[in-house]
Amino acid sequence: MLTDDRLEGRYRRIYSQLSSLLPKASSPISCMATVAALLHHKMPHFFWTGFYVLQNGELTVGPYQGPLACQVLEKNKGVCWAGILQRSTLVVPDVHAFSGHIACDSRSNSEIVIPMFDRNRQPWGVLDVDSRKYDAFSEIDKKWLEKIAGLLKPI
Ligand code: SME
Repeated sequence: MLTDDRLEGRYRRIYSQLSSLLPKASSPISCMATVAALLHHKMPHFFWTGFYVLQNGELTVGPYQGPLACQVLEKNKGVCWAGILQRSTLVVPDVHAFSGHIACDSRSNSEIVIPMFDRNRQPWGVLDVDSRKYDAFSEIDKKWLEKIAGLLKPI
């Protein structure tokens, strides 16, 4: 696990790199793929890093890094849907204690979900990160992942 100072520094560099890379990307999908790849390979506590996108009322998996994930999440169930419905970031220190949690991989033990909104304040998807560690996500992760999610444009 990184110290808070090293974690802050790493997020600062990732954010700066993404701020210059993403405006050059040609599509929202390539932006999401870039974010997932960079975060996943720089953050040792990330086990699954990716996106679910709202399409026809369903949350469908988008670009991700990590083990095979559920392709569609059952409506109004689990952490990702809770992020959409509550319109705020969810930090779940123990996913097994979260009623309705959808376990795409049984090795995940904690999770953070950041909903993303379009210019009309409508949710269009979530950034989702799972960890094998319990209680892996801090206020530092929340702050920076929200900033990073804010760089993305809706599909
Ligand atoms: N655990 C999520 C499902 C997606 S996976 O974590 C990749 C949920 O409960 O919505």
